Amino acid sequence: MSACAAKVDFDPEADIPDLQGKVFLVTGGTAGLGRETLIQLAKHKPSHLYFTGRNQKSADAIISDINTIDASVSVTFLQCDFGSRISIAKAVEKFHSGRLDVIIAGAGLMAVPADVTADDYEIQFGTSHMGNFTLMRLLLPIMLRTAEQPGSDVRFVALTSLGYGLHPRGGILFDFIKSKQEDRNTWVRYGQAKLANILTVKEMARRYHSITSVVVHPGTAKTGLVDSPSWINRMVVYATNPKGLLTVQEGACNMLWPLTTEKSNLKLGQFYLPVGRPGDLTRDGENMDLAKCLWDWSEKEIAELNFS
Ligand SMILES: NC(=O)c1ccc[n+]([C@@H]2O[C@H](COP(=O)([O-])OP(=O)(O)OC[C@H]3O[C@@H](n4cnc5c(N)ncnc54)[C@H](OP(=O)(O)O)[C@@H]3O)[C@@H](O)[C@H]2O)c1
Repeated sequence: MSACAAKVDFDPEADIPDLQGKVFLVTGGTAGLGRETLIQLAKHKPSHLYFTGRNQKSADAIISDINTIDASVSVTFLQCDFGSRISIAKAVEKFHSGRLDVIIAGAGLMAVPADVTADDYEIQFGTSHMGNFTLMRLLLPIMLRTAEQPGSDVRFVALTSLGYGLHPRGGILFDFIKSKQEDRNTWVRYGQAKLANILTVKEMARRYHSITSVVVHPGTAKTGLVDSPSWINRMVVYATNPKGLLTVQEGACNMLWPLTTEKSNLKLGQFYLPVGRPGDLTRDGENMDLAKCLWDWSEKEIAELNFS
């Protein structure tokens, strides 16, 4: 894998340090950027790689690839549907590690037809926000305990998109979140979900100083996310990226940097553009009242799971 061309000169092969002792959890690890992130992390001897997704066949293939890279790396697939809190809670029961150093929250959808998740949320918000939030919230006590250990360096890295700016006026339409929101364009619904990813990181950084929480736009990379929307929505992606799309490796590079760079290079709650370039957010992206409101609302939604 070659170095990523960017302000920060970052070459995953050379610059990712030895990861011995560290436990990573990659959501959306069965495809695209998450899959490539797992492959690159596996080359640096992490103690355990956990990953989520629904597709068992893809998961088996990734586990086989990781075993070929380094058979000593433990890897576990936590199969679940991010549209269902019960499915996520069941998957978390299979997380047997006493420590969790890094969560990479990447699972998500883009520009899909109007629908709702199994839990009845608008599908992009329900998967990209509620799914990642539920998993993180259930595992937060383990992250906080890990952070208390001497020499620890616990991180929460969420993936957003510059498309967050397309969110509806008001940011999150709480009153309509349990509906398909058919009267909004699919990109507006994507923006709502990606704004929620930003606000979650902002609020996490405000609440938990022992965890380094940052949010990243990985660049526009040629993954299934970009290939699967309708013809017209694919054209939107290509038309707004006239210089072409990044490769999956280049996109993953932008995720690997905040996961593995020296902690002193990261600022709590910061939004990063490729690679490691601090980005400015709109007023909505910095709205701490909305961030708190979203966190409290999301916790109430999953209260039945009895998390601590
Ligand atoms: N690619 C880009 O250009 C780009 C640009 C900006 C931001 N991003 C962000 O980067 C993240 C990763 O994107 P990608 O390009 O790697 O996408 P991708 O190739 O489509 O992969 C998406 C991942 O999310 C998982 N996922 C989707 N729905 C799920 C569900 N209901 N339950 C559980 N897992 C689910 C998929 O797993 P299963 O299919 O196995 O369920 C898959 O592992 C997304 O959050 C996206 O918004 C990507």
